[in-house]
Amino acid sequence: MRKPITILGFAGSLRKNSYNKALLREASELVPKDAVLEVFDLEGIPLFNQDFEAQPPKKVKQFKARIRAADAILIVTPEYNYSIPGVLKNAIDWASRPPGDNVFFDKPVAVMGASTGRLGTARAQYHLRQCFVTLNMYPINKPEVLVMFVKEKFDENGKLKDEEAKEHVGELLGNLVAWTKRLRKA
Ligand SMILES: Cc1cc2nc3c(=O)[nH]c(=O)nc-3n(C[C@H](O)[C@H](O)[C@H](O)COP(=O)(O)O)c2cc1C
Repeated sequence: MRKPITILGFAGSLRKNSYNKALLREASELVPKDAVLEVFDLEGIPLFNQDFEAQPPKKVKQFKARIRAADAILIVTPEYNYSIPGVLKNAIDWASRPPGDNVFFDKPVAVMGASTGRLGTARAQYHLRQCFVTLNMYPINKPEVLVMFVKEKFDENGKLKDEEAKEHVGELLGNLVAWTKRLRKA
């Protein structure tokens, strides 16, 4: 039997009760049978300093190693001021350096997000997709998982109660796994 597809997921929020972290936990339960979703917490990644890109801090080394070992990436992001949260962009910047050691290179990726607003992180996701071009990642286009008005979609225990959102998350993960297998065969 072939090894399961390993997806590494991380959320662009450090908040304990983050809806995006909750959405990532939910994804762990909706992942296809022939895949596993591992989670990496961005807490503790210092601010990027190019002076140290060749010898990055321990937490960054761990992050890069986990990305390198994964077959595919899942990014779950909030939207801050119509764009990518600094925490997420900072982590991506570390992992993309130094030149020749961009660990995202050639990886399939899926993105989803939850926000309290009406566009459900759409603007942040499009900015993130722009980064995928220079990172040379292969993103899943559909479905776009935009969980808007998020306070209504989770229960008091942080469980996603919106069936349509769950369906979209499941479909996105299914597409990510299928896409990863297609790239493996090529
Ligand atoms: C600095 C900051 C900027 C924000 N900007 C936006 C925004 O542009 N669009 C939006 O829909 N929500 C915005 N929000 C609200 C977030 O959607 C909300 O705080 C959400 O819960 C953050 O995700 P989290 O629960 O995973 O931490 C902003 C929140 C913060 C703290």
